[in-house]
Amino acid sequence: MQGLVEEVLRLKRERDAVILAHNYQRPEVQAVADFLGDSLDLSLEAARTNAKIIVFAGVYFMAEVAAVLNPDKLVLIPDTRAGCTLVDSVRAEDIIRWRRDHPNGVVVTYINSSIEVKAVSDYVCTSANCHKIVESIPRDRPVLFVPDKNLGNYIRYVTGRDNLYVWNGSCYVHDKITYEVLARTAMENRGFILLVHPECSGTVDILRNAEKLGVKVRVASTQGMVKAVKASGGGSFVIATETGIINRILREVPNAKVVPALEDAVCEFMKLITLDKIHRSLRDFVYPVRVPEDLAKRARVSIMRMLEFR
Ligand code: 13P
Ligand code: SF4
Repeated sequence: MQGLVEEVLRLKRERDAVILAHNYQRPEVQAVADFLGDSLDLSLEAARTNAKIIVFAGVYFMAEVAAVLNPDKLVLIPDTRAGCTLVDSVRAEDIIRWRRDHPNGVVVTYINSSIEVKAVSDYVCTSANCHKIVESIPRDRPVLFVPDKNLGNYIRYVTGRDNLYVWNGSCYVHDKITYEVLARTAMENRGFILLVHPECSGTVDILRNAEKLGVKVRVASTQGMVKAVKASGGGSFVIATETGIINRILREVPNAKVVPALEDAVCEFMKLITLDKIHRSLRDFVYPVRVPEDLAKRARVSIMRMLEFR
């Protein structure tokens, strides 16, 4: 393993490459990353890097965004099968059809979507800035929110917008983190703060019932969770998202007490990226992520709008 790590680090220097990794990545992948973050931070870092090559340790849509932001760089994904159930839940033609029912509507699309879908959207958002983006849209304009129904319902709840319509997609990992799961883990860990990712199916109900249950709930993106634990300097937290983030948190705040809301909240797509595959990626320049420029040009508009909301 140590030999492989050294080889990855050597190739990275030799090729002038950076490894951008999502917070859910395997511990050994996190360890060789130049930058770790949530979808928004990773996009911002992709826009800012001077390296010639970006190796994206995450899922395909994230690498696609990096490619759109860097038409002159080589963006590599170590395994092209690293998909996402949310991406598969909506197509560009569905949005074009949906818009016809709401001619005055504004399409806000979660970053967990294909580049074709982004190209027909008004805004791309992430879990970190979606609330701000929706709040910036005049209240008399209907919002068509795609594709995550759990995130959409959460935004509808916190903004109180009845004219926010939600597509019926979901993440198969966060869908399992129901209200029952959240309430039970909170009861078993009295006094812990519950950090909930807005993709969880139980998000709105746990917020509604927090006072009754005597639970402190905070809804956050994965990076927001890392920040919250860091700011506490070592408090006690239930983490309601994919469990890969726990490694990141404990590496940076070793004295924090952290328990997962659901042990088997593991994303098989994120876990397809291994150290071996990262090594192969750097050695053989595989697999390039390329977006045709006419498509990239259209998608760049909604992606750049996303980057303005930090
Ligand atoms: P964030 O890391 O942006 O919160 O999103 C989580 C996610 O869905 C990644 O697949
Ligand atoms: Fe997609 Fe869910 Fe996996 Fe994130 S955790 S990549 S939303 S399937």
